[in-house]
Amino acid sequence: MVKNKFSRKIVDSQSRGVKTIAFVHHKGGTGKTTSCLNSAGWLTRMKKKVLVVDLDPQGNATAGLGVDRKTLDATIYDVFFGKHNIEEVILETDSGIYLAPSSIDLLAAETHMAGQANNARILKISLASIEEFFDYILIDAPPGSTLLMINGIAAAENIIIPLDTGVFAYETMDTLKTLAVDLNQELGVEVNVMMLLLREYSTSFLDRGLTREIKKLAKRFLTENLTSDVRIFTIPFSRKIYKAQMRGRPISHYAPYSDVGFIYRRIAKEIIAYSG
Ligand SMILES: Nc1ncnc2c1ncn2[C@@H]1O[C@H](COP(=O)(O)OP(=O)(O)OP(=O)(O)O)[C@@H](O)[C@H]1O
Ligand SMILES: [Mg+2]
Repeated sequence: MVKNKFSRKIVDSQSRGVKTIAFVHHKGGTGKTTSCLNSAGWLTRMKKKVLVVDLDPQGNATAGLGVDRKTLDATIYDVFFGKHNIEEVILETDSGIYLAPSSIDLLAAETHMAGQANNARILKISLASIEEFFDYILIDAPPGSTLLMINGIAAAENIIIPLDTGVFAYETMDTLKTLAVDLNQELGVEVNVMMLLLREYSTSFLDRGLTREIKKLAKRFLTENLTSDVRIFTIPFSRKIYKAQMRGRPISHYAPYSDVGFIYRRIAKEIIAYSG
């Protein structure tokens, strides 16, 4: 259910100095949407005004905030196609998080954007008009290395990378190199990694050992390749994540004091600390 349409009247603007962060990984299912929504939930509970931008045609962030896409008359698709300004598509959801919802039509956006000039910065340009209303804009990027994903990265000052810990560690390091180093050079877009999130694959002892091993490799990689101060968090495997998503609520509003709720609270606090 959706509470309100965004309105300049109900959201006070106090020159908030917005911080824009994209959750990025070209591989599917690494935890981008889960981490985006749960960080957004805690930031909202910490009295921050948060906008989630759902850039994924799958619409998982939209559904994860309890919004039924069938009821929407305007989505982020209309922003990419120049039919609406972003403020005309933003909704306030039940948990108090604001949402620029996605639509399956976004699948067509790639073809549409391909011929446009400056097509990596369509989102960045559209966000400029509403930045003053938010403390944080969190972008849920789609999997794949698409123009939509690049728009997400180009609009963000920082990226958070949820990493797979279920594959061989060297593949994980390859991903990190692509996202943290190669994209910077190849896209001409500055990519600043703020945080890595390693999700445990199960509660089993063996899987936890693998996650710890990957954490060590990631730390070494960061020391050797990046100068920035990148935080690494391990996210426990928890069925509560699934249950919260089924109810269209972030963990901060469903099971805030669970193990996984507590970790996402630390992540939100770290995002605030990082933003200064
Ligand atoms: N900590 C966790 N414990 C258990 N399950 C989790 C956890 N985090 C995420 N999941 C589950 O893993 C699956 C993938 O997560 P999510 O949708 O966040 O990944 P994604 O990177 O956004 O995927 P996509 O690339 O398809 O957009 C989901 O079913 C989600 O419920
Ligand atoms: Mg997703």
